[in-house]
Parts: sequence; C-alpha cells; structure tokens
Amino acid sequence: MKKKAVYPGSFDPITNGHVDIILRGLKIFDEILIAVLENPKKTPLFTTKERVDMIKEIFSEEKKVEVKSFHGLLVDFARKNNARVVMRGLRAISDFEYEFQMALMNRKLDPEIETLFMMPNVKYSFLSSRLVKEVCMLGGCLTGLVPEIVEKRLREKFKLSSKSKKEKGRK
Ligand code: PNS
Repeated sequence: MKKKAVYPGSFDPITNGHVDIILRGLKIFDEILIAVLENPKKTPLFTTKERVDMIKEIFSEEKKVEVKSFHGLLVDFARKNNARVVMRGLRAISDFEYEFQMALMNRKLDPEIETLFMMPNVKYSFLSSRLVKEVCMLGGCLTGLVPEIVEKRLREKFKLSSKSKKEKGRK
C-alpha cells in the first residue's frame, strides 16, 4: 500500500518554509496531499482557489504531490483521502503548544491518524505567511522567502489593493 500523508494548512500564501517541509516529506512518503483550508471565518488575502492554484503551479512537475482544498474536520478529510498521517512543520518552541493541542485533538477524534512533525531548514525558522504579507505590503524584499510565483501574485494583490484604495479616495 502507498504511504500517503496529508499536509494541511492555510497557505495564505505558501512560503519556502512550507515547500521545505513538503520536500522533506517526499523523501518519506509515496504521496503527499496538500490540504488547503477553506475557512469562512477567516478572511485570507488569497481566495481558496488562488492558494490551491499557486501550490499546483509550484509542484506541477512533482507527480507525488496532489493539492485539494478542504473544510470541516481535518481527520475526516484525511480518512476520505486514504491518508493516515498528518504532516506538520515545527519552526520553534513557540509553535509547539498550538501544534500539540491540535495533534492530540485530532488523535482524540480519530486514534488511527498520526501526526508527524518535521523541522524546516533553520533558515526558515523565522518565516511565516503573516510576516511575508506584511513585508510585501510595506515594500520589503521577499527574495528567498517565497517561490517566484507567490512573490508575483503578492505584488499583484498589493498593487491592486493600493490602486483600489486610491480610486475610492477619489470618489
Ligand atoms: O496553517 P495553519 O493555519 O496553522 O493550519 C491550521 C489547520 C488547517 C491545520 C487547522 O486549522 C485545521 O486542521 N483545521 C481543520 C478543522 C479541524 O479539524 N479542527 C479540529 C482539530 S484541531
């Protein structure tokens, strides 16, 4: 049977830290299903489709990677997709408490699903989607932090939003 893992997240947007974890996962698993959270309570910068499409483009050459969006319980999504492992990245101790709670809640909900933690390269230990958005919005350099396609889409988003703010101001 193929060893399959789900790698869930908001991915708003995917960063090089996420990519690093996926590449590490590919050395362990036969298939990785990237699960992009569709959360109506949050207002992400990128729509679910935009987040999924960016990841699909980044891994277009990698046959072992699949990308889907999901809503509802992660364990239900994993089971429906025949995955028994959830992969998560741990950047620093500060991630631990949140991840520990989620892993144990998921185990309570479905004891057959295991969570596997992996550390990204230390050069990504400070990296987060939130900071990437902030740096981009304020005109900072994103080199080495996100894949090229993500940098392009981020620049487009912020150019558009500053344009529409200016337009609104004129009205
Ligand atoms: O990238 P993020 O925002 O840290 O990812 C969080 C995610 C998507 C892994 C988490 O919010 C999640 O699994 N949501 C699905 C809802 C769920 O299953 N909740 C109960 C278990 S904690």
